[in-house]
Amino acid sequence: MAVVRLALTDFRNHASLFVEVQAGFVLLTGENGAGKTNILEALSLLTPGRGLRGAALSEMARSDGPGGFAVAARLRDDSEIGTGTQAAAPERRQVRVNGANAAANALGERLSVLWLTPAMDRLFSESPGGRRRFLDRLVLALAPAHAHHAARYEAAARARNKLLADPEGADPAWLTALERGMAEHGAAIALARADTVAALDAHLAAAPAGPFARARIALSGWQPAAGDAQAAFTAELRSGRGRDAAAGRALAGPHRSDLAVTHAGKGQPAERCSTGEQKALLLGLVLAHADLVAERSGRAPLMLLDEVAAHLDPSRRAALFERLAAADQVWMTGTEAALFAGVGEATRLHLGG
Ligand SMILES: Nc1ncnc2c1ncn2[C@@H]1O[C@H](COP(=O)(O)OP(=O)(O)O)[C@@H](O)[C@H]1O
Ligand SMILES: [Mg+2]
Repeated sequence: MAVVRLALTDFRNHASLFVEVQAGFVLLTGENGAGKTNILEALSLLTPGRGLRGAALSEMARSDGPGGFAVAARLRDDSEIGTGTQAAAPERRQVRVNGANAAANALGERLSVLWLTPAMDRLFSESPGGRRRFLDRLVLALAPAHAHHAARYEAAARARNKLLADPEGADPAWLTALERGMAEHGAAIALARADTVAALDAHLAAAPAGPFARARIALSGWQPAAGDAQAAFTAELRSGRGRDAAAGRALAGPHRSDLAVTHAGKGQPAERCSTGEQKALLLGLVLAHADLVAERSGRAPLMLLDEVAAHLDPSRRAALFERLAAADQVWMTGTEAALFAGVGEATRLHLGG
């Protein structure tokens, strides 16, 4: 689903920005610090979660502004979605859908947003948390209920941690109820991830060899036992109470899963590939995922590619633009318009100067 209008108010360095754009390519150019990534970040808030920088909401309000910010978009189907904060509650995310207040999760039903940023260069070498968040965004685009399960799972897990830490001894009935909640939502999270990973890996395996390294993916780390995932996870939590109390957190659960990515051509784990190869793997993954989402849901994701063109040689850049030509809407940034010379028709926006 393409955005046709975007309005930012007091979002980072943009006091007030209003743009009308077409489907297809939207190219943002401008010198360093002009606010290109900030625009992509604003778009990334049109989906549940903390956006492409994973930043606190209070950091996003313009520093010499009145406090609070607003991001509003009109989509091609004429729906209006928006999010922001108010000065009085700088960490409280407000969401509006067609003029009415809504839960953040409602955004996931309207729009899928996927992004690739230079900061994600470290995705394969970092701790599993970043890869889990990446995976969950892939899942969310296919299964909007994923955000709901994640929120409920985390709430139940937090409450259980607190209860287990209580020196008075936890109320067993309450503990059982929380574990039931964790198991219900945790199993749903695990199954949705398994489904996405299997479908995406099949897509990757079947895709024609292109100019970008082919990735193969699999889940690693914690996974529910085969069979009745919910029952197995319930049992695992119950028997793990003592161990989890000592650790201060649950040692089993979907918050302990990981995504394993392999360079198919080399049969090598992504973390051992060169930076350039890792970038190409990630790009190939995101492209395959966009195809998968479009195929399954008929609702192509919005793609935000931050500084991607600058790191590709001219032939790979041309191949990238060609592959993206069929996408619904792709926002790309670059310091120079020349990087996008091969793009053809596009909405071109130059910031500053
Ligand atoms: N909350 C904020 N208020 C005002 N300016 C901000 C805020 N957060 C970041 N900035 C400014 O935004 C600029 C960076 O914008 P960015 O979108 O990353 O630039 P680029 O065009 O290079 O991608 C910096 O100059 C930074 O100081
Ligand atoms: Mg930038």
